[in-house]
Amino acid sequence: MPVPSEVEQSADETVRQLRALATPEGTAALTRAGRLLAERTDVVTALSRLRAEFGAEVGGPAWGVARQREKARPAFGADADRMLFTGDTLEQAGRPELAARRAARLLADGPADAVDLGCAGGTDTIALARAGAAVLAVDRDPVARELTAHNVAALGLTAQVVDGDVVDLVAAASEGRVAGCPVAVLDPARRAGGRRILDPDGWSPPWATVTTLLDRVPRSVVKVAPGLDHDRVPAGVEAEWVSVGGSIVEALLWGRGLSATWRRATVVRAGVVHELTADADPGRAPVAAPRGWLHEPDPAVIRSGLVATVAAQLGATLVDGQIAYLTSDGPVESPWVSSYRITDVLPFSVKRLKGLLRERGVGRVVVKKRGSAVEPEALVKQLRGKGEGRAVVVVTRVADVPTVLLCEG
Ligand SMILES: C[S@@+](CC[C@H](N)C(=O)[O-])C[C@H]1O[C@@H](n2cnc3c(N)ncnc32)[C@H](O)[C@@H]1O
Repeated sequence: MPVPSEVEQSADETVRQLRALATPEGTAALTRAGRLLAERTDVVTALSRLRAEFGAEVGGPAWGVARQREKARPAFGADADRMLFTGDTLEQAGRPELAARRAARLLADGPADAVDLGCAGGTDTIALARAGAAVLAVDRDPVARELTAHNVAALGLTAQVVDGDVVDLVAAASEGRVAGCPVAVLDPARRAGGRRILDPDGWSPPWATVTTLLDRVPRSVVKVAPGLDHDRVPAGVEAEWVSVGGSIVEALLWGRGLSATWRRATVVRAGVVHELTADADPGRAPVAAPRGWLHEPDPAVIRSGLVATVAAQLGATLVDGQIAYLTSDGPVESPWVSSYRITDVLPFSVKRLKGLLRERGVGRVVVKKRGSAVEPEALVKQLRGKGEGRAVVVVTRVADVPTVLLCEG
């Protein structure tokens, strides 16, 4: 909601406020609110100034949107200051740079009519329009439509924004088109009341709509939860997991007209995109005792089921059959893993570990864990000492035995 309080208000009221913010006076209020926020003015003072200068109708919402813009800026860059957001739509928004990447792949065969099935704040609509598509943006939520229409225009783009039910549109899809378009993006809502909906049948639109779209529209892509069970991925559909800076940010299912492989792990590190693919399940990597180096696969590699592919590339083995840590004799240069030199392998015992760290003059550690119930933050505190040295403590299982791999920090 654009108002600063968390009080629920009707969609009509929010739409009215958004329209007021799109007027010249609203724009001035937003600029002023942005300045007050940048000066770290406290909320009570800022609100009373904004209300005095612009009236309560515009002043309060301007403060709310300015706060959302501040949150959006790291991902949306300069666009954030021209766009309007509500807390809800910003929470549901994907990363614009990944939306642009998706749009480029969807339109690789050239410009086409494209539909954004559930446009929310318009991230995908904007990316498709920028990639040259004639875009139809659909949402049943009037606030989403208002935001998308505003944001598209504010960025100098065009799109047709309409009310519609995606379930019905997909049910009526035929001859490779949905809502008359041969290209489609579907990003189902996977949260409700601030909580994740884990069961795909509970998404909006639900899983049945996802599979129908993939079956009927070959040039479609669906954003799904990164935790999606591999068994759900329909045959012939490519599943891609994307990480940025070591964290999973999205998972995608590519329709059969775009699917180019079985699984893809896309790793964005320091702004560089690395892609790893496998045309068939690589199975499990071989297992052997820890050697000189430990390699922690990127979460996109793990989620996409490509750890064995990376192990084969690196000449590495798993330290335990159930855990995604790899080990090799020497260091490796690879975007798929973060590597650490192992100095000691010992059974898990805080007392023993503390003694060893003291002996080594290590006073600060980073704790990593996999296959252990240990709380990393608590262990970091327990292991804090006087020494100047640093180390990485990896708590895991080796041959099913709780084990610590002490690594250079
Ligand atoms: C996760 S959001 C989309 C986010 C968007 N792709 C972005 O990155 O900003 C899902 C949107 O789908 C809309 N939606 C959910 N079910 C729908 C349905 N059956 N018909 C139309 N819109 C629907 C919601 O109102 C919401 O705006």
